[in-house]
Amino acid sequence: MPATVILGAQWGDEGKGKITDLLSEHADVVVRYQGGNNAGHTIVVGDDKFALSLIPSGVLYPTVTPVIGNGCVVDPKVLLEEMATLRRRGIDPSRVLVSGNAHVIMPYHRKLDAVIERFLGDSMIGTTKRGIGPAYMDKYSRFGIRMQDLFDPKIFRKKLEVAVKDKNKQLMKVYNQLPVDVDAVFTEYEDYAEQLADHITDTSLVVWEAVRDGKNVLFEGAQGTLLDIDHGTYPFVTSSNPTAGGAPVGSGIGPKDIDRVMGVVKAYISRVGTGPFPTELNDEIGDRLIEIGGEYGTVTGRRRRCGWLDSVALRYAVRVNGMTEIALTKLDVLSHFDTIKVATAYRYGDERFTEMPRQQRVLYECTPEYEELPGWGDDITEAKSFDDLPANAQRYIEYIEGLAGVPISTVSVGPARSATLHR
Ligand code: GDP
Ligand code: IMO
Ligand code: MG
Repeated sequence: MPATVILGAQWGDEGKGKITDLLSEHADVVVRYQGGNNAGHTIVVGDDKFALSLIPSGVLYPTVTPVIGNGCVVDPKVLLEEMATLRRRGIDPSRVLVSGNAHVIMPYHRKLDAVIERFLGDSMIGTTKRGIGPAYMDKYSRFGIRMQDLFDPKIFRKKLEVAVKDKNKQLMKVYNQLPVDVDAVFTEYEDYAEQLADHITDTSLVVWEAVRDGKNVLFEGAQGTLLDIDHGTYPFVTSSNPTAGGAPVGSGIGPKDIDRVMGVVKAYISRVGTGPFPTELNDEIGDRLIEIGGEYGTVTGRRRRCGWLDSVALRYAVRVNGMTEIALTKLDVLSHFDTIKVATAYRYGDERFTEMPRQQRVLYECTPEYEELPGWGDDITEAKSFDDLPANAQRYIEYIEGLAGVPISTVSVGPARSATLHR
């Protein structure tokens, strides 16, 4: 496994949590490299279900060191709550390490996230309102507060005063909101810092040492390729880089240290929030994908928009991530459909696109061209190997593999660890 990136190839919720948890059995370190508690990763272990938003999915194994890298934004309150929940459920979170350079989500980030969305009205992104975008805005405008800053009262106070002055102007004068109180925030965050002190370290060094020593290191992406700030469907994206390039930057190692890039691909596709979605199904089939697939957000409970697999977007994801293999998830959901469609191109006016269109207008207004494949009907949730699958399910996998141009090494046929086929 050496250094493996596991990332979402679509608009998130592909089943990254399940796949990361699976591979974590043999991992030494599992690193989150971007995003924050906008993610919702579900792991099913026997009758137990864990929903993680910030802590890497490897935490369930006592042998794994879970790392929240410098590329993440951390809401300390949420982190402490997530640790407490894990502790209550018998999982020890004391090994969790957090980069001192990770930026901190502050109360004014959450407030701004909510009011900016309201301000945008019809043009809203449909964010998770966790303060993610405003926290990254501060990082890049250099108003940000990093985890390490919380441990130096003088620096923290100074940075906080600068940030709050700026934010209160925005909150009061632009958005007609109440201001934030510096003293209250200072005291609240000093308390978080005290509780998190043992977890903060130079995670770049920890990850690099693990890679150097040939340990198994997993990089767990949150969100997905099409939500990437650079490569996604901008502006309807998240404010970080879930794509593979984000892994070295967001964890502090070099790009040559990455050996494998595994893209997690749902056998159909979903999206939460607004933005273009060529294969979206606003019909009875779409409703059935949502209901059978249980497509409701782990974080916000929102109903996910669903549609058929889009191989134009998939090939794009293979390319921009340098993907070396695919984990195909939720194949069992398709057992309930007589015929299955896969988009192979987009039609826009007289043009036909087999590569991701350069202009966003095309994504909004195109009509997907579909290939129709026969379903298999039989329940596949008990399958233990590729050979156990009905012929049409095998054909579907091989067809997707052909379109993607990289091997499908893992097939998931249910939420449980055991419902996984390795090829
Ligand atoms: P993530 O954000 O990529 O980790 O995905 P989520 O956890 O938000 O959403 C995936 C959902 O599908 C979760 O409820 C998983 O338990 C579930 N799931 C994962 N793999 C499979 C599978 O192969 N089949 C089915 N039916 N459910 C799955
Ligand atoms: P996981 O890791 C699906 C979406 C939001 C919104 C956009 C921006 O579980 O796959 P943000 O709060 O990040 O500023 O919202 O991104 N979004 C996700 N959609 N899965 C996620 O995470 C998401 N995290 C953010 O719905 O459209
Ligand atoms: Mg999710």
